Amino acid sequence: MLRLQALRPGTFLFLCRQASKGGKPIDSDTLLRLEDGYKELVASDSKSLLKKHLKKDLFEKLKKKTTASFNSSLLDCIQTGLSNHDSAVGIVAPEPEAYKTFAEIFDPIIEDFHKGFKKTDKHPECCFGKCNDFANLDPDNKYILSTRVRCGRSVKNFPFISCLSENAFAKLEAMISGALNTMSGSYKGSYLPLSGIEKSVQQKLIDEHFLFRDCDRFLKTSGAKRFWPAARGIYFNEARNFVVWVNEEDHLRIISMEKGGDIGKVYERMIGGVEALEKHLDFSRDERLGYLTFCPTNLGSTIRASVHIKLPNLSDNPKEFWKLMDKYNLQRRGTRGEHTKVEDGVYDISNKRRVGLTEYEAVKEMYDGIRALIDAENKIFK
Ligand code: ARG
Repeated sequence: MLRLQALRPGTFLFLCRQASKGGKPIDSDTLLRLEDGYKELVASDSKSLLKKHLKKDLFEKLKKKTTASFNSSLLDCIQTGLSNHDSAVGIVAPEPEAYKTFAEIFDPIIEDFHKGFKKTDKHPECCFGKCNDFANLDPDNKYILSTRVRCGRSVKNFPFISCLSENAFAKLEAMISGALNTMSGSYKGSYLPLSGIEKSVQQKLIDEHFLFRDCDRFLKTSGAKRFWPAARGIYFNEARNFVVWVNEEDHLRIISMEKGGDIGKVYERMIGGVEALEKHLDFSRDERLGYLTFCPTNLGSTIRASVHIKLPNLSDNPKEFWKLMDKYNLQRRGTRGEHTKVEDGVYDISNKRRVGLTEYEAVKEMYDGIRALIDAENKIFK
């Protein structure tokens, strides 16, 4: 975090007058970096939502604000988008209060990404719904290689990843791993601190899509890699179809995954995991935004339901492919996840919206979309 640094006498009073209501006045170095970075962003050909929505007058209005809780600045939120003009989004929240202090930039970005969730809208109550509604989409294993459903959670009374002190990190890891170690039955497993996993084993786990990577410049410039690899880790159940990432981008990413296309089963396992952890941890939830996460793309239901899928005919018809992706609110990523390329024709396709719809509806959006893609794939083939 960029914190108030030593100021020349006199500067303080001047800054106090300039600062808007909120935290401490912003320091001159942070302000300079914000202004330079913003100028470069405006001059760039960035297609990020940050550039689209942070118009000059709004920038001027927000640039000196800080939060009262942790003194987070606009730079703490947008450094990632200023450093990476190829960002799709370009903004993160260092702590829950940032969504309020900088609401004027977060709200339009949330509305744009989640396709119409307005600042006057309220995210619905948590509703996982009936898992049985989701039958296997590909019982003959022709298209879907694997299925994964995850959600994100933040622990109450802690800021998000870029704003945690080294002590808070350690405390959080102890709380989360303690909760994980109480898991029983099919969830029983073990927590491995990242620092204790040998490099070659780490790579193997990454290749098998179990473990997160550590080289994402978008996350790095958002401040999420501070003290890395301290306090990060991964929990596996014995069958390795239930995984929890600890302190990667969010405090917790609760993941259920397995080979094939049995979405109902995968979803059900994730829900059981969340409910078991809720008994031991208090999660941050906002009245309007739902469950709170570091990145505004993950708020609300926080659900990302995805498949690894091969659709060779649609791949040869990109116009049709993209038309369906858009119609069904789907998002496409490379084989190894975000910001990676497609290998061997394997796409990672998921729901895009997470805010403004329930957990059940988010999974259903992916389910209906994947079914439509498979139908189209078959039709083109005939
Ligand atoms: N910050 C990146 C961007 O703006 C990723 C956004 C969504 N992904 C994420 N892991 N939060 O492109």
